[in-house]
Amino acid sequence: MVERTLLIIKPDGVRRGLIGEILRRIEAKGLRITKLKMLKLSRECAEQLYDIHRGKPFFEGLISFMTSGPIVAAVIEGDDAVNVVRLLVGPTDGRKAPPGTIRGDYALSIRENVVHAADSPERAEYEISVVFDIKCSVEE
Ligand code: CMP
Repeated sequence: MVERTLLIIKPDGVRRGLIGEILRRIEAKGLRITKLKMLKLSRECAEQLYDIHRGKPFFEGLISFMTSGPIVAAVIEGDDAVNVVRLLVGPTDGRKAPPGTIRGDYALSIRENVVHAADSPERAEYEISVVFDIKCSVEE
């Protein structure tokens, strides 16, 4: 079934010059990028994006990291896009992610893991509404 999902290239991925390589992998798979935006997230919007992690021990560090520099947000469309993008991204912990996945090839950290991908169609719609809201972008 054709779905859409959200992929975010996190501040570490942008700083390390991985935007092109990550988007290349998405397109090479046959998925379509239908919206693309570079922005620096406000603290409030980073907290909304990660609302399900509020209260966890890593929450503050995650929010500081996600607001530490620009991100790239992409809406991705294609057959079974939510699961397919998660397979391309790999597991959260870069140290455990298999080679061939984005995190497996480019991350060595559980927090600074280069990308985020929505984990369900419902979360994708919620997260797209947060990051593509013009009010979520702050000046550098
Ligand atoms: P992401 O897939 O964007 O979803 C939540 C994020 O929180 C995760 O990637 C990591 O960046 C971060 N995260 C998850 N678990 C931990 C942890 N144990 N320590 C630090 N950061 C974490």
